[in-house]
Amino acid sequence: MTKNDDIFTGLLVEIKELVLSKIPRDDRLMNICRLLNEKVPHYNWVGFYLVDWANKRELILGPYVGAPTDHVRIPFGKGICGQAAEREEIFVVDDVTKESNYLSCSINVKSEIVLPIFRHGKIIGELDIDSHTPAAFTGHDRTFLNSICEIVAGII
Ligand code: SME
Repeated sequence: MTKNDDIFTGLLVEIKELVLSKIPRDDRLMNICRLLNEKVPHYNWVGFYLVDWANKRELILGPYVGAPTDHVRIPFGKGICGQAAEREEIFVVDDVTKESNYLSCSINVKSEIVLPIFRHGKIIGELDIDSHTPAAFTGHDRTFLNSICEIVAGII
């Protein structure tokens, strides 16, 4: 059990409660971003991208916490987010400078994880996290963040 595992266990309880709260959906998603950003030191930008229902091959930026980004719309296949959407797979990049298909948000970002969110087998959005630490994301982050995606799938 690492220190992060303890943090993750507590956060999952808080996030389950948040998802069930009666505030508007985007406020719930924003509070999840805030919690993750505040409680996990290596999560420096935390945000949701949602599949555009008018154009199912594009992602639209949803609630997020961190540096403002120009990437408010990302076509499937473009950048790390677009590749994760196209492949419907979790994408972890340990060193963003080595990724040719990458959309930079800030020069401080060193590594990134993107997890697709599915409902009834279809991708409906993504959870995107950037870190200022190289190779910040381990299997523990993957498992933890994937549980969050399963929890939030019900409200997206
Ligand atoms: N880096 C992402 C774009 C989103 S920003 O990091 C917020 C990408 O390559 O898709």
